[in-house]
Amino acid sequence: MKKKIFGVLLAATLTVSSLAACGGSTEAPAADAGTETEAPAADEGGSDAAADSALADKKVGVCIYQFADNFMTLFRNELESYLIAQGFSKDNIKIVDGANDQATQSGQIDSFIAEGVDVLIINPVNSSSANTITDKVVGANIPLVYINREPNADEEQRWADNNWNVCYVGCDARQSGTMQGEIIADLGLDKIDFNGNGKIDYIMIEGDPENVDAQYRTEFSVKALEDAGLEVNCLDDQVGMWDQAKGQELCANDLSKFGNDVEVVFCNNDAMALGALQAIQAAGRTVGTDIYLVGVDALTEVVQDVIDGTITGTVFNDHFSQAHSSADAAINYLNGSTNEHYIGCDYVKVTTDNAADILAKIS
Ligand code: BGC
Repeated sequence: MKKKIFGVLLAATLTVSSLAACGGSTEAPAADAGTETEAPAADEGGSDAAADSALADKKVGVCIYQFADNFMTLFRNELESYLIAQGFSKDNIKIVDGANDQATQSGQIDSFIAEGVDVLIINPVNSSSANTITDKVVGANIPLVYINREPNADEEQRWADNNWNVCYVGCDARQSGTMQGEIIADLGLDKIDFNGNGKIDYIMIEGDPENVDAQYRTEFSVKALEDAGLEVNCLDDQVGMWDQAKGQELCANDLSKFGNDVEVVFCNNDAMALGALQAIQAAGRTVGTDIYLVGVDALTEVVQDVIDGTITGTVFNDHFSQAHSSADAAINYLNGSTNEHYIGCDYVKVTTDNAADILAKIS
């Protein structure tokens, strides 16, 4: 098994915060649900024997929305090493940081087109810019693989209608939200309802609301509680932009405002859950005893927290599978083959039951 040590980056510069409606359902682009892929592929990975010498001269441009994102750091590191293992030369793989600014990223895409890259892998800053990006890249006759931030259904339909070499690789965020809700629902009302009002009193800390992952996780985590027959009460729903420091700040505010009424903290990702955990501990609260906390991603630190009982659970967002699938899709295009326009991947629920196994796979 390939072992890797990933550093955890602390994203610290985001300041955006806006109020999102409690319990408001979101209108989000539909992803093709239920696409099947293999379970966690941590120990897959190209061997040198599989390396294709025809790829050594091919140039790959990779645009990441922001390097200071824990999850995308795991993703891009795995993507680079897998591309190399498949036969690309390290010098021909250029990975750039969009610094969470669409104008910066659009300039980077222009430069890649001018340089004449053979294929582009793009994690858009704004998925709503996909239409413009696609037109540009397709116009330059370069195959395109979108990752992580899913363009909307109309945009994906265009790729199919025009038979373009454009696809999306990612997971269906509805599944991750549902799993978060199930982790909490499975505890049962009696264990959660510390204030005895018969409801699950929760706060929601959201990622970037432009991002369908944030929209769906917010909606489907709560839906899973309701589907389990539980009554819910949203105390607060705020935007933490996927950022740990923001997650800490928002959770600290809510704990001081709502005190012991906060029974569950839902975070759209693990970075914000790590921030929330800092706030919970600073407020003298104890996860598993008087509050519950769930995230998404399965960052190493968080999986260790699940084992230690300091975070209730998380959901493995399989960056190995997604990185490999996006590289494989790029290679297919370079070899003159086509891809499905939507290439999916399954999330995995992480609780004390399987956290040790997941940790072994990701570390
Ligand atoms: C991950 C987040 C990450 C975001 C970036 C999501 O799928 O769960 O941790 O910040 O992607 O777009």
